[in-house]
Amino acid sequence: MLTAFIFAAILASPGEIELDKKLPVVFEKSAAHYRAIDAAATPFMDKGDVKEAVPHGDKPHGERRVPHGWDAKNGKLDMRSIYWWTSGHFPGSLWYLYEATGDEFFKERATVWTELVAPNSKVSDNHDVGFIMYCSFGNARRLLRTDRYDALLLETAASLAKRFNPDLGLIRSWGDIGEKRDFLVIPDNMMNLELLEWAAKAKGGEERFDDIARSHATKTIAHHFRADGGTYHVLNYDQRPGFCGVVQEIRRGQGLSCETAWSRGQSWAIYGYTMMYRETKDPAYLEFAQKVSDFAINHPNMPADGVPYWDFGAPGEERDSSAASIMASGLLELSTFVPGEKGAKYRAFAVKQLLSLCSNAYFAKPGENGDWLLKHGVGHKPAGGEIDTPLDYGDYYFLEALLRFRRLAGGFSPVM
Ligand code: GLY
Repeated sequence: MLTAFIFAAILASPGEIELDKKLPVVFEKSAAHYRAIDAAATPFMDKGDVKEAVPHGDKPHGERRVPHGWDAKNGKLDMRSIYWWTSGHFPGSLWYLYEATGDEFFKERATVWTELVAPNSKVSDNHDVGFIMYCSFGNARRLLRTDRYDALLLETAASLAKRFNPDLGLIRSWGDIGEKRDFLVIPDNMMNLELLEWAAKAKGGEERFDDIARSHATKTIAHHFRADGGTYHVLNYDQRPGFCGVVQEIRRGQGLSCETAWSRGQSWAIYGYTMMYRETKDPAYLEFAQKVSDFAINHPNMPADGVPYWDFGAPGEERDSSAASIMASGLLELSTFVPGEKGAKYRAFAVKQLLSLCSNAYFAKPGENGDWLLKHGVGHKPAGGEIDTPLDYGDYYFLEALLRFRRLAGGFSPVM
C-alpha cells in the first residue's frame, strides 16, 4: 500500500505511467539496434573504405572511424573519423545501454569504441573535444567507477582551455586559435563546458577551468540571444583593441536565418545552462535556462507532439528529432531545480517529447534507418547535409533522457 502510494506520487501523470511502462521494451529494442550497428561497424573501425568526413592533417590515428549515421542513398553506414565532432556519441550510447540493461556486452563494446577516440585529448583546433571525450570517457569513468581515464580527461580540458581568449572571456568554437579576423562562437559550445566543470573539481584539476566555463557562459548570455530568449547560431566577435568583444557579425550558420532560432541550438542552450546551474549553483544560469526553455516550449510554431521543426522559423518543414531529445534531457534535469507548477510543466513537456520519440513515428523498426534509433533528424539543412535522417547524437540524448526519466520515476540501473 505504502509502495503504491510512493509510486503514484513519483509518477505524476498518465503520460508518465505510460512512458514508465514502455521503458523496458524501448531499452530492449534499442539494445538490439545497437548490437546490429556495432556488428556492421566493427570491421571498418580502422579501415578507409568509408565516407571521408574531415581532413585529418597530421593528427595521429586519422584512419580510425566511428559510426555516425546512415548513408541511405548508398545503403551503408556512415562512418566518420574519430576527429568528427560526434565521435563520442556512439560510444556514449553504448555506455547508456550498459547503464540501462546491465548487459556486459555493452560494457565491453563501449570500452573498445571509447578507447578508439582517445587521441582527441591532444586536440585543440576545435571546441568539440568536450562532446567527444566527455560523452565517451566521462560516462566510462562514471559507470566503471574508475579514475583510470582522469589524466586523459584533464589533458582534454587543458586542450580545450587553449581556445579561451581572456580578452574576450570566451572560448572560440571554430577556427584556428591565432586567427585574428574572425572569432566564431556557437551555442553548442555550452555543452563542452561540462568537461571543464568536471576538470575544475577533479583530483589534479585546476580552478581556472571553472573560471573559463563561467566566463564563457556569462558572456554568451549577454550576446548570443535575442530579447525573447531565441538563440543566434554563429556570432563573430571583434578582437581589435578598442572593439574587443563587440559582435561584428551574425551568421545564420545551420539555422534558417539570422532572425530565427535554429532548434538544435536552442536545445543546446537549454541543456547547457541547466548543466551550468547544476555545476555552479549560480542562480543566473537557472534563470536563463528557464528563459531559453520557455522560448521553446511556448513557441507558436512548436508542434503538438513536442518535436520541433528544424528551425523555429520553418513551420511545416522537416522536424529535428535530435533537437527534441536534447531538449527533453535538459528539461528533465531543469524540472528538478524548478519547484512547483513551473518545474512540473518542464517535466510534462519532456515526457510528451519522449512519448513521441518512442512512437512508431520516430522510433525505427529493426533493420530500417541503418538500425539507428531515431528517424527524422536534421544535421545542416542550409548546406543540404543530413536532412530527415538518423543522427548519432539524437540517439545519445534520447537514451540519456530515458535514463533520467527512469531515475525520476524511482527506477534503478542494474549497474549503478
Ligand atoms: N554542433 C553541431 C550541431 O549541433 O550540428
